[in-house]
Amino acid sequence: MSSRMIKTVTLGVVFCIALFLLAPRGFPESKSRGDGQTASDPSLGTTKCQRSSSSHKPIVQYALMIDAGSTGSRIHVYRFNNCGETPELESEEFKMVQPGLSSFPDDPTGAAKSLDVLMEVAMKHVPETLKGCSPVAVKATAGLRFLGPEKSKKILEAVRHRLETSYPFPVVAGSGVEIMEGKDEGVYAWITTNYLLGNIGTVEDTPTAAIFDLGGGSTQIVFEPTFPSIGGGMPARLAAGDHKYELTFGGRHFDLYQHSHLGYGLMEARKAIHKLVANAKQVELGASWADHPIVNPCIIPGMIREIDVELTPGQIVKVNMTGPSEPSAPQCRFLAETILKKEQKCELTPCSFNGIHQPPLERTFATEDIYIFSYFYDRARPLGLPDSFTLKEMHETTAKVCGGSNAWDVFHPIPDAMEELTGRPEYCLDLSFMLALLHTGYEMPLDRLVKTAKKIKGNELGWCLGASLPLLDQGTSGWQCKIKEVL
Ligand SMILES: *[C@@H]1O[C@H](CO)[C@@H](O)[C@H](O)[C@H]1NC(C)=O
Repeated sequence: MSSRMIKTVTLGVVFCIALFLLAPRGFPESKSRGDGQTASDPSLGTTKCQRSSSSHKPIVQYALMIDAGSTGSRIHVYRFNNCGETPELESEEFKMVQPGLSSFPDDPTGAAKSLDVLMEVAMKHVPETLKGCSPVAVKATAGLRFLGPEKSKKILEAVRHRLETSYPFPVVAGSGVEIMEGKDEGVYAWITTNYLLGNIGTVEDTPTAAIFDLGGGSTQIVFEPTFPSIGGGMPARLAAGDHKYELTFGGRHFDLYQHSHLGYGLMEARKAIHKLVANAKQVELGASWADHPIVNPCIIPGMIREIDVELTPGQIVKVNMTGPSEPSAPQCRFLAETILKKEQKCELTPCSFNGIHQPPLERTFATEDIYIFSYFYDRARPLGLPDSFTLKEMHETTAKVCGGSNAWDVFHPIPDAMEELTGRPEYCLDLSFMLALLHTGYEMPLDRLVKTAKKIKGNELGWCLGASLPLLDQGTSGWQCKIKEVL
């Protein structure tokens, strides 16, 4: 009897100890989860969790970003959940309308009303009870700047007025409706990329990726240089100046290097190279130069393209740029390197090109990811360059493209590659410029691996998402929930 009792008691004790040992303990999340917000109604919740990560955060949040570009205006309606510490993007609604705000130079009200069809998307997709706490911002890019400060100011004021008076969404104060600076565009694209990669958003000290964006008019570089202390000395730091962008995001501080090289977008680079070739011909032949076909090593052998060359501002001459009889990739790259103006005086050393200061990539960004996109992607992908490749591989591909159709058998199995090549006499120029920019301009070693993408995890790269993320933090981003007036 007593031995049975002892057995039972012993078993019971062992059982309890086992339970104690196996029970989950001390998970900080489970505790803080306890005070998160819940959804008062299933339509306001998410399938991802029952509670938000903090009592200060709603479980689901929306942010509206209007990208007022030169050709049209676009709205992005982003839906996030706050299940974890970092907001998680769940979905995105998108709509574009043409023309852009700059097509209404003398009609600010008309410009503001042109956004109504975009706002309808937001009205439809944001649940009624969340509208008052879903911030909206409008960021205009280059197009509006060309109208001059007076006209663009009137348009932006009219846009703000319409959004504030006709819609239930809070309009972000101050910079909420503005013409964006080039540096913000680059840094927001950096945020987008690193957020989608999962590099930022937590206090963890994860390395971040660099971004290289190639547009038509300018090209942007943004990265977080690392200055390891060498030989026990004090680590060097990013020098002060316009290129330095201090950013706080998700509880982390970043000292970013950024620069927008105006005039080094792909379309501007083409113009500069054609002008260089035309100038040389003019010096060689004198007045009658434009009547002759002009051999241009950057045009694919066997192809011709008629180009408007702007010799002096306003003086445009039509010429036929003709590909050389022999492959001439090095000569094209020489021209591309010439327009980079490597020899320009460097006020703050070291410089990348055109006299612009830049910490050396080889020493301050040796191994982290490099993302190249926009035109980089548009030219590399159709030729079958994969998600990541080295500059050497890009170099070899460029040599084949500049080699003319006899060197193109490697492109036959790539869908659409031949169509792209035969339709684009400037393909050799475009690739040569990109290579010159990355290798000679930014001084990336030839064995450097770069990555290219249009989307990450299904979301477009670009500045819009990166500009929207800071808006989720109601306390610091300049908006407050709009309380519905009781009628
Ligand atoms: C260029 O060549 C095309 C076709 O040969 C010709 O029609 C055109 O007039 C030429 N343009 C110039 C500026 O010489």
